[in-house]
Amino acid sequence: MPAWTYHSEELTEIEKEVLFRRHWQIVCHVSNVPNPGDYMCFDMVGERAVVMHGDDGRIRAFHNLCRHRGSRVLAEEQGHCKRVITCPFHGWSYGTDGQLRNPAVPDSLPKLDKVEHGLKPIELDIWMGFIFIRFKEGDQPPVSELMKRHEAEVAPYQTESIIPAYDRVWSHEMDVNWKAVRDVDNEGYHVPMAHPALQDLYGKNYYDEALVNGTNRSVGAFTESDGRLWSVKNYKKILPDRPNLPKESKRKWLYVGLFPNTVISFYPESVNFYHEYPVAAGKTIQRGMSYRYADEDRQLRLARYLAERIDRDTVDEDTQLIKWSCEAMESSAFDGIILSDREYGVRCYHDALRERIPVMNEEQAPAFNQVAAVNAAYGDRKAAAVAE
Ligand code: FES
Ligand SMILES: [Fe+2]
Repeated sequence: MPAWTYHSEELTEIEKEVLFRRHWQIVCHVSNVPNPGDYMCFDMVGERAVVMHGDDGRIRAFHNLCRHRGSRVLAEEQGHCKRVITCPFHGWSYGTDGQLRNPAVPDSLPKLDKVEHGLKPIELDIWMGFIFIRFKEGDQPPVSELMKRHEAEVAPYQTESIIPAYDRVWSHEMDVNWKAVRDVDNEGYHVPMAHPALQDLYGKNYYDEALVNGTNRSVGAFTESDGRLWSVKNYKKILPDRPNLPKESKRKWLYVGLFPNTVISFYPESVNFYHEYPVAAGKTIQRGMSYRYADEDRQLRLARYLAERIDRDTVDEDTQLIKWSCEAMESSAFDGIILSDREYGVRCYHDALRERIPVMNEEQAPAFNQVAAVNAAYGDRKAAAVAE
């Protein structure tokens, strides 16, 4: 993709609208909100959501935005509320189903309908216990439909019996364009050089399957060797047999990706997800959560600890590479990229982006303030071609 697409604020605003508000975003797992009144908040690209386990047992998502004057109704990132959500600004209250219960001093207000003036609902879908939301309508089919082809492989991981490994969501801000994070993630060509621990863990056995119908998959089956690095050697040694997993999954790491930005990783001892989304062209938030098995024993916990160490090193290594490739996009010497066959995943991902935001086909950045207009013109040309 041309360099300008990695530092254009105008394009970032289009991406926020087309890709992030109109595609499924992972929020958490049902085990993060196990009881009525439990909630998890999630902010992204100027939107604020809350996923709430209702008193009627249903999990819903709403905009975290009071219908009075727009305050956040829930200030904490996660927590529990007893039957009512009370807005911290003037005290309007809502049920855990989102309906308006009591506006403060109702006599001073016009008559308000409980549903119409309730918290605005957000579309929600649950796949294997993972909760996804979509802020605005889009063409993407339901998550459960998109992920169907991975179900047979994922089912033995028994995601119904996982629980959060930590109390809090992890997130950090990166001074890079969000696409550069995806680019590094979408190919395994760099693994032998950049990630000594992963190379030690699965090495040549690792492969990527590029995007097909909105999802992609990568697998790293452990190599037979004992491992040279401390964390890998001990992980391979300590990881117990997992009777729930079929033979081919007992010793592998599986990554399943959902377009445009979600990755869920299934390891024998844990399940994790992460995703990233733009704040600005050069600012990205990466966020994720780890889950463990509820019946985890000491050995399994130790294995999980070692896997985390391997992942921590990998993230640090990737962070540096992402930063360098992003910097390159602003250099006068940058001539575009040369892709190896082993980076086919990057190509497929870029194709999917161009299909949704065709202005990314432009070699040079459109004139100031013209990115949206040039993008819209592609749509008009397509419509005219179809009409002919
Ligand atoms: S903004 Fe919520 S009660 Fe006023
Ligand atoms: Fe990497």
